[in-house]
Amino acid sequence: MTCAMACSDGDAPLGPVNPAPAGEPWDMLSQWRLFTDGAGHSPNEGVVGYQVESQLFSDYALKRRFVWLPEGATVAYDDNEPWELPVGAIVAKTFAYPIDARDAALGQRAIETRLMIRETTGWAVHTYIWDDDQQDAERKVAGKQVPVSWIDAEGTSRSLDYLVPNTNECFECHGEADQARTLGLRTRQLGAQVDAWSAAGYLDATPAPAAERYTLPDPFGTAPLADRARSYLDVNCSHCHSSWGVAKDKTLHLDWDSTAPGGDPARLGVCKLPTSAGGAHCGNTFDLVPGNADASVLICRMETDDIENQMPPLGRSVPHAEGVALIREWIDAMDPSDACSGE
Ligand code: HEC
Ligand code: HEC
Repeated sequence: MTCAMACSDGDAPLGPVNPAPAGEPWDMLSQWRLFTDGAGHSPNEGVVGYQVESQLFSDYALKRRFVWLPEGATVAYDDNEPWELPVGAIVAKTFAYPIDARDAALGQRAIETRLMIRETTGWAVHTYIWDDDQQDAERKVAGKQVPVSWIDAEGTSRSLDYLVPNTNECFECHGEADQARTLGLRTRQLGAQVDAWSAAGYLDATPAPAAERYTLPDPFGTAPLADRARSYLDVNCSHCHSSWGVAKDKTLHLDWDSTAPGGDPARLGVCKLPTSAGGAHCGNTFDLVPGNADASVLICRMETDDIENQMPPLGRSVPHAEGVALIREWIDAMDPSDACSGE
């Protein structure tokens, strides 16, 4: 039975989560029956909301995340590595904008809901674009530009063209199609939620005690500057800049482990000549010049919104001013005695 909008109007019982046959995704988001009230995102039975500790910047969109596991199935848990979800698992992530960030009661406008479905052959990826009246969302393969506007926490009106990615672009960040992976479902991103998942019987192993696990700090919280910067680079850059990501041959590795103190500074781009061709170095010589953010390629590529040169190349249409400020502060605070020769 398929269940479109009519089932969620409160007259008929919704019924349980309704996975599509492998390779035949539903056309409408409501057919999966993940939520009982459409854009309200009240989770259906068995659907669990979660949050990540360190946020990927996506043009200031707000995000809600949910996971559903088939009855009795468990996650292959690891304290350090990303978790392996069981066949049949569904993970959903909705991107939305506040109407007015000063007043949550005014609600949000949902733009797209992305799904990852664990099939026997690997992860399938889909995105559903919400209609203007927020009743339901329709699956789109080709992506779309959606003009959005909202009032930010300071009361300023903001607007931009939000870019829904096409479904090939999912693999730029989530790994090649045949070996795609989830990125946020791991111990360092789930923090204290790990214990709740364990208590609920979702994990196949007992996690290390909370005090022995590490959790990414909030990049805009109160942790030491270097840890906040490393956390920011991990979640915003490392899915491409790591030993397995699409930019792996650049040998600029920005994941939490590669950027640890005492590691090879060249991995971080310190005094490293960019290998990228063309104008993408913005006139600078090295990826990262300690003590000199202005001279670092890394900063100018985060600051630009020129689509050819910007970093990240996908997932944003405006620079992340707060993120740029954080990475600037971190580079400027580095000991310039390490400065690259020739600078
Ligand atoms: C610019 C890189 C990027 C692109 C492009 C991207 N994602 Fe992600 N995605 C991430 C990161 C990083 C996370 C983990 C952090 C989070 O949950 O916000 C994530 C998380 C998710 C999650 C939650 C499960 C998880 O991996 O932890 C889903 C579902 C998801 N993405 C689906 C998609 C789909 C579908 C597409 C394509 C339509 C897509 N993503 C495109 C970077 C990306
Ligand atoms: C979706 C994948 C992706 C993400 C996410 C991404 N990058 Fe990149 N990056 C690339 C690719 C591919 C290249 C090589 C081609 C180029 O230079 O445009 C590159 C090149 C670079 C270079 C030049 C490296 C060299 O030595 O040649 C820098 C610096 C850089 N990225 C910084 C960043 C930073 C900082 C972030 C996060 C804020 C980031 N990138 C996020 C894909 C990505």
